[in-house]
Amino acid sequence: MIEFHDVHKSYAVNGQSIAALQSMQLKVLRGEIFGLIGHSGAGKSTLLRLINRLEEPSGGRIIVDGVDVTALDAQGLRRFRQRVGMIFQHFNLLSSKTVADNVAMPLKLAGELPRVQIKQRVVELLARVGLSEHANKYPAQLSGGQKQRVGIARALATDPKILLCDEATSALDPQTTAQVLQLLAEINRELGLTIVLITHEMDVIRRVCDRVGVMDGGVIVEHGLVSDVFLHPQHPTTQRFVQETEGDTDLAPGEDYQHVSGRIVRLTFLGEATYAPLLGRVARETGVDYSILAGRIGRIKDQACGQLTLALTGGKEMLAEQQLRAAGVHVEVLRP
Ligand SMILES: Nc1ncnc2c1ncn2[C@@H]1O[C@H](COP(=O)(O)OP(=O)(O)OP(=O)(O)O)[C@@H](O)[C@H]1O
Ligand SMILES: [Mg+2]
Repeated sequence: MIEFHDVHKSYAVNGQSIAALQSMQLKVLRGEIFGLIGHSGAGKSTLLRLINRLEEPSGGRIIVDGVDVTALDAQGLRRFRQRVGMIFQHFNLLSSKTVADNVAMPLKLAGELPRVQIKQRVVELLARVGLSEHANKYPAQLSGGQKQRVGIARALATDPKILLCDEATSALDPQTTAQVLQLLAEINRELGLTIVLITHEMDVIRRVCDRVGVMDGGVIVEHGLVSDVFLHPQHPTTQRFVQETEGDTDLAPGEDYQHVSGRIVRLTFLGEATYAPLLGRVARETGVDYSILAGRIGRIKDQACGQLTLALTGGKEMLAEQQLRAAGVHVEVLRP
């Protein structure tokens, strides 16, 4: 749905050229929720704003749904932007307009629908985001979560194919964040919208995204399926993000388990294997004893997952590992 070919972006600051994005290659698939995570200044917003050309690239090509965005003229760009909705951290609502008028805004600007139909569409959109009763309120009379719902309804008004979210939940409390993320997941599923979502919280990625790119210093340092990146982070930046949400589990670098005897392995469970009563059976059948050194069990989007660090002693260790692998468990040996 979205392709970046060798895209770079520099800003001129005090006569000097500062690179915000360097030679970016990126593919976002149709219908997925793609997360971008990175620390402040990593270039996330720049990348997002290049997709609908709110920023002009300094070089490279950006293809969206088969259209070379970099080649569009002003009129083409105006039409293209109707296919791309955007929501923001601070909602960007017009305070002097009601909820309904805020949502109607993009439709009035597009000037393609008669008034009656705009009204009807606004009713539908407010119902979709659960704000039907608030149509005539002003933004100041809404909670943060409700304001973001207005932002989402407004972004959906022109029936876009893509939704860009720049830190859309960063100003919200955890519970409201969860509700807004759930709404985004519904929209993705039911409308088939492709969503690109920026955040600095790994937890947001874990809850809703299918794939993720980790940004650092204007480049994507690691990308892949959320389950892969989350359970087997390779780059130090990714490892730090995972650690921040997971606390100091066995991922803490430098943990050498000197005081523990036996062979140390880390098991990663994904999907069905997570809840299967495997360990006991394998221990019985192979005579291997185990002690649990660290562990976590949770969910990645719709999938259960878990990770356990074990010390194995006695019995047929190799057979035990074979049996675990055969049951779909990923086995890493941390210390032979
Ligand atoms: N309009 C601009 N003029 C000059 N420099 C800019 C401009 N916009 C961004 N930058 C610089 O480009 C780099 C990337 O900025 P960007 O806003 O994309 O980061 P970000 O990852 O979105 O950060 P944050 O998490 O703080 O929003 C930063 O070094 C920033 O200072
Ligand atoms: Mg930003």
